[in-house]
Amino acid sequence: MLDRKPVTIHPDIAWFGDVRTVLSPMAGVTDRAFRDVCRAHGAGLAFCEFTAAKGLTYDNPQTWRLVDTEGEQGRVGVQIFGAEPDAMAGAARLMADKRLDVLDINFGCPAKKVVQKCGGSALLADVDLLKEIVDAVVAASPVPVTAKIRTGWDDDSVNYREVGLLLQEAGCRWVTLHGRTRNQKFRGHAHWDCIADLVDVMDIPVIGNGDVVDGDSYAAMVRETRCHAVMVGRGAMGNPWLFKQMDAADGLGACETPNLGEIMDVVEGHIAAVARLRGERYGSQTVRKHVVRYFRDFPGAAAMRRRLFATETGDAMLDVLAELRSEADLESRPRCGTLPLAENDDVNASDLCCDLKEGDRS
Ligand SMILES: Cc1cc2nc3c(=O)[nH]c(=O)nc-3n(C[C@H](O)[C@H](O)[C@H](O)COP(=O)(O)O)c2cc1C
Repeated sequence: MLDRKPVTIHPDIAWFGDVRTVLSPMAGVTDRAFRDVCRAHGAGLAFCEFTAAKGLTYDNPQTWRLVDTEGEQGRVGVQIFGAEPDAMAGAARLMADKRLDVLDINFGCPAKKVVQKCGGSALLADVDLLKEIVDAVVAASPVPVTAKIRTGWDDDSVNYREVGLLLQEAGCRWVTLHGRTRNQKFRGHAHWDCIADLVDVMDIPVIGNGDVVDGDSYAAMVRETRCHAVMVGRGAMGNPWLFKQMDAADGLGACETPNLGEIMDVVEGHIAAVARLRGERYGSQTVRKHVVRYFRDFPGAAAMRRRLFATETGDAMLDVLAELRSEADLESRPRCGTLPLAENDDVNASDLCCDLKEGDRS
């Protein structure tokens, strides 16, 4: 195992002691189907998409769908956002009979629609309100509370230390730090030195987040920061094998790069699960962002994509996959796990994160 800083794990999250890899919350991405795929490949915990506290308290069915975890196997976290302590506490209270292991508070979202209403990363610039929110949620929540932050609002107001210690003091069981400021959005590199610094000053676990895409970058982050666990987002899209690669880098088992046939098996299961959960038509639209990434590192990926995306239902997509199977070299392997987070991924990240449909999130 890679060396970590010894930390205090509160008894009510004793299970977290063994968790080293976490699927990040990603709006429009980490639905039930993707969470299942990632856990099946070794993710120790998987987060739902972030969810507006107010939408939950208003009993908006579309909002509740985002945190529908009923019957979900394995560790799962729900993440809420908002700027009103009462609504945040109200949403926390509503988790009483739900299936979740932790309730995370989002203090990191850079999306305009969220920060304009003082939610997400805007709260890093209003630490008094942030404290009110975390106090209210900790008091109301029936499950352990955690928080996800960025390093600060901008380069001139980096305050992850102050905020991290405040969250620890308020009773959060761990803090996840995405090593970028709000103004950085998804640009540049994540500052792992800030993660290392936060690990140093905190007694509770810190989850490091930002730019981990393969076993090597995982090992490098753990070595440089000694963080308890690593959270991955973009790198897991189209590459759930990343979780096994990270375990392997930790000396826990081995991981072979999957061949095309094995990837197709997973894609088929993923498409079928999304169609089951979201319906044939809508499901086939929402799963595209995943499908495009599963195949992106194979020669002919663009042609495959065109054929798959000419379909309108999950069933039709599966038929095309079956045709592709009969034509392709199923033994071929991608450069799996070494994919950089390409520039257009950054664009997609901002687009997806900023392009929140009101109805969906609030
Ligand atoms: C499409 C997309 C949606 C995201 N949605 C959320 C979210 O709902 N909550 C959150 O805390 N972070 C969200 N993030 C940020 C990620 O959780 C993560 O912090 C960030 O992508 C950096 O990690 P990575 O380099 O492993 O991708 C989102 C990122 C992307 C790309």
